[in-house]
Amino acid sequence: MGKVYYVSKNVGLGLLVLAATALATIIALSIAYDKERAKNRDKPEDGTSDSTGMPTPPTTPFIPKEPWDHYRLPESLVPVSYNVTLWPRLEPNADGLYIFTGHSAVVFRCVKETDLIIIHSNKLNLTTFNGHHAKLSGLGGAAVPTIQKSFLIVKTEYLVLQLRSRLAVGTSYVLHTEFLGELADDLEGFYRSEYTDDGMKRVVATSQMQATYARKAFPCFDEPAMKAVFNITIIHNSATVALSNGRDIGSFQNSVVRIWARRKAINDRQGDYALNVTGPILQFYERYYNASYPLSKSDQIALPDFNAGAMENWGLVTYRETALLYDPIMSSTGNKERVTTVISHELAHMWFGNLVTLQWWNDLWLNEGFASYVEYLGADYAEPTWKIKDQILLYDVHKVFAVDALASSHPLSRREDEVNDPAQISEMFNTISYSKGAAVLRMLSEFLTEPVFAKGLSSYLNTFAFSNTVYTDLWDHLQQVVENTPGMHLPDTVHNIMNHWTLQMGFPVVTIDTRTGSITQKHFLLDPESVVDRPSQFNYTWFVPVKWMKTGVEQQQYWLLQKTGIDWVLANINVSGYFRVNYDLDNWDRLLSLLNTDHQVIINRAQIIDDTFNLARAKIIHTTLALRTTKYLSNEREYIPWESALRNLDYYILMFDRTEVYGALQAYLKKQIQPLFEYFKIITADWTRVPTGHTDQYNQINAVGMACSMGVEGCRELIQGWYRQWMKNPHPSPIHPNLKSTVYCAAIAFGGVEEWDFAWRMFKNATLASEASRLRSAMACTKVPWLLNRYLDYTLDPTKIRKQDATSTIQYIARNVVGMPLAWNFVRAKWSYIFQQYGKASFSFSNLIHAITRRFSSEFELQELKKFKEDNLHVGFGSATLALEQAIEKTTANIKWVTENKAQVLKWFTEEST
Ligand SMILES: *[C@@H]1O[C@H](CO)[C@@H](O)[C@H](O)[C@H]1NC(C)=O
Ligand SMILES: *[C@@H]1O[C@H](CO)[C@@H](O)[C@H](O)[C@H]1NC(C)=O
Ligand SMILES: *[C@@H]1O[C@H](CO)[C@@H](O)[C@H](O)[C@H]1NC(C)=O
Ligand SMILES: *[C@@H]1O[C@H](CO)[C@@H](O)[C@H](O)[C@H]1NC(C)=O
Ligand SMILES: *[C@@H]1O[C@H](CO)[C@@H](O)[C@H](O)[C@H]1NC(C)=O
Ligand SMILES: *[C@@H]1O[C@H](CO)[C@@H](O)[C@H](O)[C@H]1NC(C)=O
Ligand SMILES: *[C@@H]1O[C@H](CO)[C@@H](O)[C@H](O)[C@H]1NC(C)=O
Ligand SMILES: [Zn+2]
Repeated sequence: MGKVYYVSKNVGLGLLVLAATALATIIALSIAYDKERAKNRDKPEDGTSDSTGMPTPPTTPFIPKEPWDHYRLPESLVPVSYNVTLWPRLEPNADGLYIFTGHSAVVFRCVKETDLIIIHSNKLNLTTFNGHHAKLSGLGGAAVPTIQKSFLIVKTEYLVLQLRSRLAVGTSYVLHTEFLGELADDLEGFYRSEYTDDGMKRVVATSQMQATYARKAFPCFDEPAMKAVFNITIIHNSATVALSNGRDIGSFQNSVVRIWARRKAINDRQGDYALNVTGPILQFYERYYNASYPLSKSDQIALPDFNAGAMENWGLVTYRETALLYDPIMSSTGNKERVTTVISHELAHMWFGNLVTLQWWNDLWLNEGFASYVEYLGADYAEPTWKIKDQILLYDVHKVFAVDALASSHPLSRREDEVNDPAQISEMFNTISYSKGAAVLRMLSEFLTEPVFAKGLSSYLNTFAFSNTVYTDLWDHLQQVVENTPGMHLPDTVHNIMNHWTLQMGFPVVTIDTRTGSITQKHFLLDPESVVDRPSQFNYTWFVPVKWMKTGVEQQQYWLLQKTGIDWVLANINVSGYFRVNYDLDNWDRLLSLLNTDHQVIINRAQIIDDTFNLARAKIIHTTLALRTTKYLSNEREYIPWESALRNLDYYILMFDRTEVYGALQAYLKKQIQPLFEYFKIITADWTRVPTGHTDQYNQINAVGMACSMGVEGCRELIQGWYRQWMKNPHPSPIHPNLKSTVYCAAIAFGGVEEWDFAWRMFKNATLASEASRLRSAMACTKVPWLLNRYLDYTLDPTKIRKQDATSTIQYIARNVVGMPLAWNFVRAKWSYIFQQYGKASFSFSNLIHAITRRFSSEFELQELKKFKEDNLHVGFGSATLALEQAIEKTTANIKWVTENKAQVLKWFTEEST
């Protein structure tokens, strides 16, 4: 590794050293990276796509004939341990290439007679011994078959050895390989990351093994169930540092927690916060799992180049810089929360995922869904004042409801034989696995109660430590605890209840009729006319645990609601259930009048809002009923209900901000947001402080941003005052980090070329990546057409905007109502140039198409879109092919929605804004 620096701390963690690993360093190949959600409160660098991860359509049928044509390893050999030596060269060779060399000896046992050795190897140049790519020897005097033939299979990424005779069952052998590979900047396998430090270029050799890249670092049995002991040796210059998963054999530290990063980041104290929270989070999990931390040390490192958000390598977790580093002066509260939740997520995997590993990638949802749920528990322990557990609603439940309500969704669980090749494996890392997994596990924990859930979990982890499982193993251990818990009654076994949630896609809307007492469930589909052509063995019915409340009093949980009287009822109160709720109109009226008179009584206000807006989109209830849930907002001071409302109103803004409806909508929202703006003015002593509450800080950002765009008096002057002060005296900035994104954007929107050019200078001079990214986004907020067009031109000049940032910059411009048509013209005019110049991989075309077409809602725009498709068929659309089809479909749906709703929405906003 290049020179990296660290801060460390000794913590009193339980220590569990295994005999087999006491002298060894371990690399856990079975475990890997995380496509962590971009939860940045600041605008993410790139629009995240809500891919549901649909299976790739079958291509030309390929019939495997030979054992090496299968993507899965044969079951004849199992690895026991490896000796791996790697020697990365941190200087380019004579050809200008960075390379690494290495050798490996793997001890494996034969468990089924075979005359074939099949082991993964990808993009490695193997040294030959007597004409073969490997050497085979025996262990303990066993007779060793000679190698007849050896060859590499590129498609399935194998090294194959055909032997002259068979390996004996029960006998262990050693396979030796010597190899050379490129230490490329491709972010996969053993790869290279670069940065500058004091003007000097530094090189880091690092790794990303999940899901199928360990085979690119050294030949290995690269499947999650092929656990083994790894003895790792790294050859490196003594002026550099080498880290691996386990303890350095030469050193005698005990439990130690360290955070590693670039020297400047450590000197600027950007690692302190991560160091502060790691110990408490590990302690939380030791208690929650009732199992001590399984390793002798915990290292976490921030890498300048990293593809995912973070990767839970056992004992050596790797992160993107924004997911681990927190600058006490420059970073916002949102940046800090991201650091806490990502660390909490990765550390949860040290047990769940690493110590106990799912057998195969088809069960990935359990691994990722679990970590995505308990990350809130760990983060809550580290930061108890943040009330972070409530946020799962916004960041997981509502997010996945949106994709799981489509007819094209898919079940959480896949059959093992449905997931084989690397592309199918990487498709498993999607919103459904992470967020629906989190939502249904949270529901399970809630209906079992947390002590029962944790007890079953602990029994599962202790039983299967250092081995592999399938998801039903967890259900079995939970069931045992249920059976040993007096007074616990479930309508069926854990296994049968959960099958309904994991084996069929979607979720129900539960309709409660308080007049008749009837309660019914129905598969919730956002488009009521969509056709579900995926049959379900459960006919789209679920075991629904309903937590409910009657006239303010929480009632016993019902699996089937009993008859209720005429009082108001409220169901899914903590939104612990993964379902939506609808009521009869009388109960809706009672709930709405409560919202207007005594809204605190309704504890799940964010859910009421999100449910009504989605029920209206699905035409189950009237649009105005959804809009009525926003009337009480003038009294609302809490973040989560406001955020839920703003996300739902965003669709109305997009559909109508170029129509006469917008005037009335703006007048209404101005009226609703004004009291919140005034409230923050008071509690921040006339904007001189930020609120102390964690979510109040987010709500302040919403209040200021919304007040300025809706024209609340005083907002513009406030923002412009701050920005002018900053222009006069750039160092230090007078603007609080939390408010920077909002203030920059609004000030540039209100301003002209001077404000814009100042932001450009600050952008070019920024040393902190997150500051540069805020400015890059804010410059897209100007309303001046020539500035927007000039900025669009800058995106094609890599000396002005780095290639990796080009698409997201065009997306930011398209988000602006003035910029949208300019971006659309720009992309149409230059499509073939952009496509050829940037290629389909580095340029995120699907996000680009999505961003530009979000507002499309007229017949004319639909025709333009279709014409664009036809005109460019010869060029192609690469990764945007599907996005273009979806854009055409969504535009069609928008046209329909606007036609059906425009008049009544205009009428409603007009009446309510006076
Ligand atoms: C790796 O180290 C362990 C512990 O020292 C040892 O038992 C094992 O044999 C080693 N593996 C190999 C391939 O030598
Ligand atoms: C692995 O390395 C250890 C320590 O150097 C050595 O004792 C052992 O023989 C090696 N195992 C193999 C299979 O090469
Ligand atoms: C591996 O071998 C091929 C074929 O000889 C060669 O083109 C390639 O450059 C080699 N790779 C490296 C990293 O040297
Ligand atoms: C880390 O903890 C120390 C001691 O509690 C505290 O003084 C410091 O402010 C914390 N650092 C950060 C960045 O939170
Ligand atoms: C924790 O584990 C210990 C043994 O490992 C066991 O005796 C104890 O009952 C467990 N506690 C809980 C709450 O499961
Ligand atoms: C599902 O519906 C079909 C036809 O309506 C019926 O034959 C079948 O028994 C139902 N299955 C379940 C599990 O309810
Ligand atoms: C650029 O940033 C440095 C510190 O990071 C500062 O000293 C310098 O004045 C800045 N230049 C401009 C033009 O703001
Ligand atoms: Zn994860």
